[in-house]
Amino acid sequence: MRAVTWQSKRKVSVETVPDPVIEEPTDAIIKITSTAICGSDLHLYEVMTPFMEKGDIMGHEPMGIVQEVGSAVKNVKVGDRVVIPFNIACGQCMMCRKGLTTQCEVTQVKEHNRGAALFGYTKLYGHIPGGQAEYLRVPHADFMAKKVPVGPPDERFLYLSDVLPTAWQAVKYANIPKNKTVVVIGLGPIGDMASRIAQHLGAEIIIGIDLVPERLARAAAHGVIPIDVREFEGDQQALAEAVRSHLGGRGPEAVIEAVGMEAHGSPNVKAIQQMTTLMPDPIAQKLFTTVGMDRLFALHSAIEMVGRGGTLSLVGVYAGQADPISLDALFDKQIQVRMGQANAPFWTKEILPLLIDDNMFDVDNFATHRLSLEEAPHAYEIFQKKEDEAIKIVLKP
Ligand SMILES: NC(=O)c1ccc[n+]([C@@H]2O[C@H](COP(=O)([O-])OP(=O)(O)OC[C@H]3O[C@@H](n4cnc5c(N)ncnc54)[C@H](O)[C@@H]3O)[C@@H](O)[C@H]2O)c1
Ligand SMILES: [Zn+2]
Ligand SMILES: [Zn+2]
Repeated sequence: MRAVTWQSKRKVSVETVPDPVIEEPTDAIIKITSTAICGSDLHLYEVMTPFMEKGDIMGHEPMGIVQEVGSAVKNVKVGDRVVIPFNIACGQCMMCRKGLTTQCEVTQVKEHNRGAALFGYTKLYGHIPGGQAEYLRVPHADFMAKKVPVGPPDERFLYLSDVLPTAWQAVKYANIPKNKTVVVIGLGPIGDMASRIAQHLGAEIIIGIDLVPERLARAAAHGVIPIDVREFEGDQQALAEAVRSHLGGRGPEAVIEAVGMEAHGSPNVKAIQQMTTLMPDPIAQKLFTTVGMDRLFALHSAIEMVGRGGTLSLVGVYAGQADPISLDALFDKQIQVRMGQANAPFWTKEILPLLIDDNMFDVDNFATHRLSLEEAPHAYEIFQKKEDEAIKIVLKP
């Protein structure tokens, strides 16, 4: 089959690789019809390179048609239309029963002291081939292959793989609707969708921050108050002050941080990140545990602006193990912090019913680009550089 493979820093290529096969009786093989590129893929593309191997198959936002099932699979059959959430979970262990599928005790990557395995996400997360390909092996298919109805276009359901459950969890963790005023930092696919869901779940004032004009405009078009972070030249206090000016002088009750480790505005750490991509992997991996490795501008802005007694919901991915965080501010302002990978397969049952008869959150028009699988190298490039107004790219194998 053809698959998008990681080759080296900022280089992916579409290669012919062996077709996946059923390995366990609980597996299914899916023929992929749509598969999206995520901001998390960008971290692998450039920054997390010490944890990547040449030839790794990328991607974790697929949907398609069941091609083959293992002997123990009962809930899906050949021909079913399914979407596959990005974190791999058994659905039955103690953690899964609590809804914490990212902590699944069956797929957990104990070797690296990590939570549940993820599709297409480095050795740290189980080294499982990803879904930017023609076919995908889906472990624990009874729980992981989520059946969706035939009829509406793929994109009605595609984002159940990641964007929808991730944004949904971010909003829930922001304690909306109890919290009525919310700032969303980062208006990529995740932040944009979080602002739509926050509106749906009852937030009253939503402020969105980014630096890409079309992303700010897209959020503003559905009622978000846009703030362009570039106007503040790295001054977090001034940015927080601008936020408060929309909220009667108080900080927001909730802040959703949807930027992650590659935030604009952290030039020194950017230089360190760049250095590690040039070092031998074992040395670079060591640095991740000993040096502040994440570009923290957005996170520090979140801590600065959140109102006293407020909630921080961190959805952007961070990987450094020695990052400097202001515990002083978090403690003094009495902030609740919630974060983590989204428990994606868990949220399906809450979100899917909203989509069946309705183009909820305008998911049908969420993608800005639909390209062939073969165009993946170009797609990664424009998504990373934010060229051609790329916000969400769907590949069609
Ligand atoms: N927790 C999860 O389960 C989960 C799932 C999916 C994605 N993510 C993470 O969410 C984050 C966003 O993903 P995405 O797909 O929307 O990607 P993205 O890279 O398109 O979005 C990031 C956005 O942040 C903006 N940004 C950068 N620096 C900023 C700053 N200082 N202030 C304000 N905005 C800034 C960028 O312009 C961009 O629009 C990534 O870190 C991704 O890894 C987490
Ligand atoms: Zn993703
Ligand atoms: Zn489990």
